[in-house]
Amino acid sequence: MLIRYIKTLFEYAGIRASISLFLMLIMGLTQGVGLVMLVPFLELIGLGETGGAEGLATHINGVLGWLGLPVNMTSILCLYVVIVSAHSIVARYREVLNSKIVNGFTQVMRQSLYRALSRAEWLCFLRSKTSDITHVLTIDIQRVGFATQQLLQLIGKIIIVNVYIVVALVLSVPMTVFSLAFGIGFLLLMHPLNRKAQRTGEDLRDSVGNMYTAITEHLGGMKIAKSYNLGNRHQETFRIITNGITDQVVNFAKINTATRMYYEIGAAVALAAFFFVAVVLVHIPAANLLLIVFLFARILPGFSMIQQCMQRITNAIPSFGAVLEMKKRFEAAKEPLLEDSIRPFKLNKGISFSNVSFRYDKTRQAWALRDVDLMIPARTMTAIMGPSGAGKSTMADLILGLLSPDQGTVKIDGKPLSGDFLHRWRQSVGYVPQDTFLFHDTIRANLLWALPNAEDKDLWRVLRLSAVDGFVSSVPQGLDAVVGDRGGWLSGGERQRIALARALLREPSLLLLDEATSSLDTESEEYINEAIDRLHGKLTIVVIAHRSATIQRADRIVVLDKGRIVEGVGYAVMR
Ligand SMILES: Nc1ncnc2c1ncn2[C@@H]1O[C@H](COP(=O)(O)OP(=O)(O)O)[C@@H](O)[C@H]1O
Ligand SMILES: [Mg+2]
Repeated sequence: MLIRYIKTLFEYAGIRASISLFLMLIMGLTQGVGLVMLVPFLELIGLGETGGAEGLATHINGVLGWLGLPVNMTSILCLYVVIVSAHSIVARYREVLNSKIVNGFTQVMRQSLYRALSRAEWLCFLRSKTSDITHVLTIDIQRVGFATQQLLQLIGKIIIVNVYIVVALVLSVPMTVFSLAFGIGFLLLMHPLNRKAQRTGEDLRDSVGNMYTAITEHLGGMKIAKSYNLGNRHQETFRIITNGITDQVVNFAKINTATRMYYEIGAAVALAAFFFVAVVLVHIPAANLLLIVFLFARILPGFSMIQQCMQRITNAIPSFGAVLEMKKRFEAAKEPLLEDSIRPFKLNKGISFSNVSFRYDKTRQAWALRDVDLMIPARTMTAIMGPSGAGKSTMADLILGLLSPDQGTVKIDGKPLSGDFLHRWRQSVGYVPQDTFLFHDTIRANLLWALPNAEDKDLWRVLRLSAVDGFVSSVPQGLDAVVGDRGGWLSGGERQRIALARALLREPSLLLLDEATSSLDTESEEYINEAIDRLHGKLTIVVIAHRSATIQRADRIVVLDKGRIVEGVGYAVMR
């Protein structure tokens, strides 16, 4: 998965990442040169002979000569300042570039995942938990961004450590080999901690997922929970989950800081040993010794940083896996591409079901709909009845093309409901389910959502058709009144009638009401029935309903039970 992740990142950020790496190389070099510059400086202030690095001092003197500068303290210091400044400028540019890479990468991942979700079939959503999707889209992708940042830092660290090593080699080969052996040895010794880091990453992901589920479900059921006095229990669940998250984050911090602690202690021991070797046995000149100590003090933290970065990356890798998995699942259920300019389809003959069977779980024999044969002629009104669980909503979703039959075909004017035609057909359907969704916005915005270019007179026309114009003109803000979360500031009847108005705004060929009036009082239902009367004969109407007041208006009644049509009262009155 780690390799998969690095490959994906470089596919996205190939050029930028290469530039960033190149800049890191320059940074490493300027830093190295800046350090080496200190040798002649130390020599100048009389801190001893440069010994083994004589060639180096000559080189720097040569550069100074080439630049036309005298070999003295002032010019060496000036050159030092220039090089360090160049380093800082490049460093800043690289940080910005890295930020672009990290955020660009997360943005591309987020957008491509969102595109995959938007294009996926409805059934794929039915199988997913909303909270999982939110979790992946927010936290998981953020953690992948964090891993990316760590990866870039890791590569930078590796480059810089290498530069230090080269500089150290120039100064003293045996001492460098000594510190390298120490660093690498420690890297291997600490390896098991990396695996632990990945495991805590997985645990953390699970806990955060549970938190998202709890939040989504608790908020959704807040009213009922309050009425059951279950607020405390929800709070307790939430407390346990969030405690778990803290534990996992702290566990990871323990692993991560332990790594650094071991390195630091190890480095102190090594440095003591090193000093002993250098001073007592090898007799390195003082200026070099100082520098080597300085390098050592940088190379080893470099190794520990490399390890820490690696752990942070492996800790975040489960999130990358989750993003990829979700994207793959949604992409596998892709619907044809939706074009915005698509023309609606005008229904002329009717909708037909021939031998249609459908099941939600393809691995089981539980059919939600079985061998359904049905013809719904255009411009008639059909009522679908039946007990709960009979398959009525499944039938509605098949008409919408949200579900596709496992056997048999659904045809619209003789055309199979598939491919590009799906979108053309949906463009011509006005659908109102039982639990309508309104946005927390104004009535106008909620209506315009269906048809952005509609004028106010069109809005009032459909409000009148849905018998809700009286209500809208009676509220002080009229069309600009806000409806609350999911339309919660309206009564059920008002909400459903506004939803009906929204469905009618697109002048649909088919009006499909799935228990749209089931939870309404008789007065509100009567309003909607009046609206249906006004529309009867002008467009095709399919109503899933229980109450006789609605059903009596239908030209035909279809009764479903256990997924089969048990009774189809024919079109008595064809209008
Ligand atoms: N998302 C789903 N996953 C699995 N089974 C489902 C799903 N939705 C509905 N079902 C099952 O399909 C059958 C028909 O459901 P549905 O069409 O919603 O019934 P109705 O609308 O008539 O009450 C029921 O047995 C129900 O349990
Ligand atoms: Mg239903």
